[in-house]
Amino acid sequence: MVIDSKKLRKLFLDFFSENTHKLIPNSPLIPEYDPTVLFTPAGMHPLIPYFLGQPHPLGKKLVNVQKCFRTGDIECVGDSSHLTFFEMLGSWSLGDYFKKEAIRLSYEFLTNKRWLNLDKNRLSVTVFAGDMDAPRDLESYDAWSSQGIPDNRIVFLSKEDNWWGPVGNTGPCGPCTEMFYDTGKPACGPECGPGCGCGKFFELWNDVFMEYNQTCSGDYELLRQKNVDTGMGVEHTAAMLEDKKTVFGIAAIRPIAARVEEIASITAPTAIQEKSIRIITDHVRAATFFLGDERGVKPSNADRGYVLRRLIRRAIRFGRLIGIERDFLPELAELVIKINETEYPLLREKQDSIFEELTKEETKFKRTLEKGLRKFQRLIENSPKIDGKNAFLLFQSFGFPIELTKELAAEQGIQVDEQEFRNEYERHQKVSAASAKKLFKGGLSDASSQTKSLHTATHLLNEALRIVLKKKDIVQRGSNITPERLRFDFNFDRALTPEEIAAVEKLVNEQIQKCLPVKRTEMTVDEAKASGAQGVFDDKYRDTVSVYSVGNFSSEICGGPHVTNTSELGIFKIKKQKGIAAGVRRIRAVLEHKKGN
Ligand code: ALA
Repeated sequence: MVIDSKKLRKLFLDFFSENTHKLIPNSPLIPEYDPTVLFTPAGMHPLIPYFLGQPHPLGKKLVNVQKCFRTGDIECVGDSSHLTFFEMLGSWSLGDYFKKEAIRLSYEFLTNKRWLNLDKNRLSVTVFAGDMDAPRDLESYDAWSSQGIPDNRIVFLSKEDNWWGPVGNTGPCGPCTEMFYDTGKPACGPECGPGCGCGKFFELWNDVFMEYNQTCSGDYELLRQKNVDTGMGVEHTAAMLEDKKTVFGIAAIRPIAARVEEIASITAPTAIQEKSIRIITDHVRAATFFLGDERGVKPSNADRGYVLRRLIRRAIRFGRLIGIERDFLPELAELVIKINETEYPLLREKQDSIFEELTKEETKFKRTLEKGLRKFQRLIENSPKIDGKNAFLLFQSFGFPIELTKELAAEQGIQVDEQEFRNEYERHQKVSAASAKKLFKGGLSDASSQTKSLHTATHLLNEALRIVLKKKDIVQRGSNITPERLRFDFNFDRALTPEEIAAVEKLVNEQIQKCLPVKRTEMTVDEAKASGAQGVFDDKYRDTVSVYSVGNFSSEICGGPHVTNTSELGIFKIKKQKGIAAGVRRIRAVLEHKKGN
C-alpha cells in the first residue's frame, strides 16, 4: 500500500507514541515566544526554551507534526523540491536518551515492516566529521554500525552538511546525522554519495544532537543537557514514498496544481509554465495557512503581513504569465482547505475571512498590475536601471513589492537600486512605524474596583463585537485599562458604523443589566478550547488556565482580576474608535455612573 502524507504523519506519531513520546500541539505558524523570527521555521523552534533546560510539562520525550514556513525559500520555489510552507514531523529527547537510542529509533521507523518498511540495503547515512569546535562524531558512527549499516554507507561530512546551527545567531545547536535513500539512479560521478545534490540520494530524515549553545561571541559551550531533535519533511518524504518525481505530484498537493492547469487551460505544461504552476500552488497553499493560522496574518506592508502580500501578489503575477485573467485565488484556497481540514479544522472555521482577504488583495492588485507592468516597461526602455525612486513609485502607486520589481528586472538583466528604495521607503514609513511600535503593549494598570469593572466590561465588549460584527474570528490584539477607561485593540479592517457602535453598546449594557455572575474556573487548555473560551492559547504548556465567564455570555482565558457581578459596572459607553495599524482597530470606552448613584 502506498504511504501518502496523511498515512506518513500517522505512522510517525504512532511509532513515537508507542515508544512513550508524548504528542505536543502543532504550534501556530506565527511564533508565540520569539519575536526575532517572523514564522516558525522548524518543528524544534517552539521547543528552544526546553533544550536550554526549562522542564516541559509533558515530559522529556516528545513528538509532533509542525506547520513551518521559510521566507528565504520564496524565490527557490519552482524546482521539484522547494516549498515555502511545509509540515515537519519531529521527535525530541530533552535530556533523556541521546545518540544511540535516537539512531536505533530512526532505523526501526525507516526499515521495520510495521512502519516505513524501506529497504535497509538502500539506506546510507552521513555523520559529522569533526572540526575545531566539536569532535568527530564516532558515537553516531558506532550506533549506525551496530544497526548493520556497513562502513561504505556511513560518510563523514563537515559542518556545512552535518551541523544544525542556531535559529538566529545564538542558541542550541549541534552535530547531526542525516539518513538517505538510494533512488537507484546512476551516480553522477566518482564523488557522488549521500549528500550529493544530483538526486540519486534522497534525504529522508535529520537527527540533530543538540548539546551545544552558540553564544553571541560565536563560541560553543556545552548545554546543561544533551537533547535530540529530529525532523522529517512530510511533503518531501511523501514524494519519495508515493514514488513521485516532485513534491508537487503528491496526493496532498497535486489537485491544487491540477486546478491551476485547468484554470489556465493548460494540458501539457512547458517547463516555463510548470514553474508558474508550482509557484502559484505553493504560494496559495502558504497564504491559506497564514490567513487560517491561530494567530492569523492579513496582507499589509509590514513584517508578516508583507510576506503574505508578497506571496499573494507573486501568485497573481505568475497567474498572469500563464494567461489567467480572472480571479482564481479563493477557489484554490478552497481546495487547500478541503485537503487539509481534517488535520487543520481552523482553516474551515476561518474560510470566510480567508476567501475575503484573498479576494480583496486580488482585486486591489489586479487593478494596478497591468498599469504597473506597463510603467515598468517604459522605465526600462528609458533607463539601464531602476533607481530607488522609481522602485518606490512602483511600490507605492502600483503595489509592486520590491522583490517583484527585482524579479522583473532580473528577468530583463536589469539592476534595481534597492538601497535607495529602502531609504525612500523609510522616509515614508517613519510616522506609522512609530505608532505600530506602540501596539500590543497593554494590561491592567492597577486592581482598583474601577479597573476591575472596566476589565469585566472589556470581556463583554470582546464578545459583543464578535456578535454585532458577525465575525467569529475577532480576537484581542491589545488591551490597556486604567481606572478611567478601557482601551481595546482587535482585528477588524474598517470603521464601525454608528449603528454598529450603538448595537455593541446596547448588547453590553443588556448584559450589565442582567446582573450576570462573573466566575473563575480552572481547567486544562484542552478543556478551555473545548468549552469555546476565547483567548490566545499561549499558555498551552501550563497544566491549567483560568477561564472567566460572565453568565453564559462570555468566556475567556484570563488572569483576572474581575468584579463578581456585572451589576457593579454602570453604563457602558464607547468614546472613540480608530484604526491603529492595517487591520487593527482600537476602541476606547468608559463606564458611566448610573443615574441616581
Ligand atoms: N531541526 C532539524 C531540521 O529541521 C531536525 O532538520
